[in-house]
Amino acid sequence: MAYFSSSSSNPVLFSTLSLVCFFFFFSENKSFVSATRSEEASNELQHNTHSRVSLSSLFPSSSCSSPPQGANRNGSLEVVHKHGPCSKLKQPSSSSSPSSFIIQHSEILKQDEARVRAIQYELSKTHQNHHQEQVETSTKGSDGTQLPAKSAIPLLGGNYYVTVGLGSPKRDLSLVFDTGSDLTWTQCKPCARSCYSQKEPIFDPSQSSSYSNISCSSSQCSQLVSATGIRSACSKATRACLYGVQYGDGSFSIGFFAKEKLTVSSTDVFDNFFFGCGQNNGGLFRGIAGLLGLGRSLVSIVEQTAQKYRKIFSYCLPSTLNTVGYLNFGGVSSNTNIKYIPFSSNFRNSSFYVLDLIGIAFGGANLPIAASVFSRGTVVDSGTVITRLPPAAYSPLSDAFQKFMSARYPKGDSDDLLGTCYDLSGYKSFSVPSISLLFKGGVNVELAGIGVVYIASQKQVCLGFAANKKDGDVAIIGNTQQKTLEIVYDVGGERIGFRPLGCN
Ligand SMILES: *[C@@H]1O[C@H](CO)[C@@H](O)[C@H](O)[C@H]1NC(C)=O
Ligand SMILES: *[C@@H]1O[C@H](CO)[C@@H](O)[C@H](O)[C@H]1NC(C)=O
Ligand SMILES: *[C@@H]1O[C@H](CO)[C@@H](O)[C@H](O)[C@H]1NC(C)=O
Repeated sequence: MAYFSSSSSNPVLFSTLSLVCFFFFFSENKSFVSATRSEEASNELQHNTHSRVSLSSLFPSSSCSSPPQGANRNGSLEVVHKHGPCSKLKQPSSSSSPSSFIIQHSEILKQDEARVRAIQYELSKTHQNHHQEQVETSTKGSDGTQLPAKSAIPLLGGNYYVTVGLGSPKRDLSLVFDTGSDLTWTQCKPCARSCYSQKEPIFDPSQSSSYSNISCSSSQCSQLVSATGIRSACSKATRACLYGVQYGDGSFSIGFFAKEKLTVSSTDVFDNFFFGCGQNNGGLFRGIAGLLGLGRSLVSIVEQTAQKYRKIFSYCLPSTLNTVGYLNFGGVSSNTNIKYIPFSSNFRNSSFYVLDLIGIAFGGANLPIAASVFSRGTVVDSGTVITRLPPAAYSPLSDAFQKFMSARYPKGDSDDLLGTCYDLSGYKSFSVPSISLLFKGGVNVELAGIGVVYIASQKQVCLGFAANKKDGDVAIIGNTQQKTLEIVYDVGGERIGFRPLGCN
C-alpha cells in the first residue's frame, strides 16, 4: 500500500493538508479593558448578589478524589481533565513543579485562542453563505490517489477526555470529547506515516476481528466532507476510503475511514461504528489516543448512535481538576431544574451548537447590553476554555467585575487575554458576583461561582471571559463557564438544557 509507506516519494496527504493549514496571529488588543464604565451597571451593583468560592479546594492536589455522581447508569462515561491528578495520561514528571503548572496555563490559553479563531472562521463562512465558493484544490499522487482539499478547518479538541472501548477484543482508548467537531478518530498501527506518543497502546486493526475498511463508493465515505471540510480520497490499491482532518492549531490526522465495534459501556455496544483509523497523526494531542466527535453532522457519534440514544447526551465538567465529571448518552442525570433553550434558527445547518444569547445579568441586574450585539449567534462548545463575548458585551461585564473585585481585593498581574486579575494569596475563600446568561425566550442560566473566574494561580484570579477582536465574531460559551452545570444536548429536539449542581 504505497499511499502511506513511501514517505518521501509520495507526500500527497501532507502537501494537501498544508494547503488547508491556516496561521493565526495572536495580536494583542487591550482596548476593551479600559472602556468607560457604565453608570447604569454600577448603580445596579447596589443590590448585588454574590457567592463565595473556596480557594483551597481548587488547586490540583496530588490525588484524585470522589467518583462522579451522574455516572452510575448505562451509557455513562467519566470525564477527566487531561492535566489534573485524575488523569492517567499526563507525564508524572511535570505534575509536581508549580512552574510547569503556570506554563500549562499559558499553553492552554494560547491553544484556546487558535480554537476560537477556527470556530469563528467556520461560522463566518456559514453566515456569509460562502460554502460553495470555497477554493478547492486537488493534488495528485504518483499512484493516482486524489485528495481534494477544501479550505475548512475543524478544531482541536479541548482538555477533557473520556475512555471508550474499540474493536474485538475491545481496547480502551482515551479520546478528547468535542462538541465542536464531528469525526471520531484514533491513531492506528502500523502508523504508516507517523503517530505521536500516546499513553495507551496504539490501536491495531489487524488484532481486531471486527475491523473493516469502508469502500470509496459508500455513502459514508461521501458524507465525510461535511464533517471534516476535506473531501475524502481513495486508496488506489484497495479502494479504501481515506479521510483527513486538520485542526485550528495545525494538529491533524489522516488515514482509513473504517468500521468497528464501539463499546461505550458493558450494556451499550455498537457493531458498526464509523471512525478514522489514523496512519499519519501529529500536533498537540500528546498522550490522548484521538478524538470523540459530538457535533451535529452525520458522521458524529450522536447521529451514529441515534437509534439507541435518541440523539441526546449530557455532560458535567467538575469544578476542580481533582474530581471527574461525566458524559451521559441517551439521557440526563436528573430531569429536575433543567432549563431548555432552542437552537438558534439562524444556524440550522451548522455542525456547531448555536443559541441566541441576548443579555447578561451581573449581581442580579441586567448589564446595559443591546440584544443586537449578539446577533451573530453564540456557540456552546465543550473545547473552548474561556467564554468569548462581543466587545460591546465584554466591556460592561469587565467594568462591573473590576468594580466588584477592586473594592475587596488587591490587583494581581493582568493577563493579555483575560484583562485585570486579582491577587488572592492569603485568602482561603473569596466572593464572586453572580453572573447569568439571558437567552431569547426569557430563559436565564446562572453560572456557578467557580464558572465566573479563571484561576491561573492564587496570585492571578481573573474574570473568565474575554472580548472578541471584532463585533461581527460569533460569541462562544466556553468550558470554564460550564463547570458544574449539567449541559443537555437534545439534538433531535433542537435544544440545549442547563441544570445547576450537575456535579461537584
Ligand atoms: C442497563 O442495561 C441493561 C441491559 O440492557 C438493563 O437491563 C438495565 O435495566 C439498564 N439499566 C438502566 C439503569 O437503565
Ligand atoms: C484496509 O486497507 C488497507 C489499505 O488498502 C489495507 O492495507 C488493509 O489490509 C485493509 N484492512 C482490511 C481489514 O481490509
Ligand atoms: C439549510 O439547508 C437547506 C438544505 O440544504 C437549505 O434549503 C436551507 O436554506 C439551509 N438553511 C440555512 C438557514 O442556511
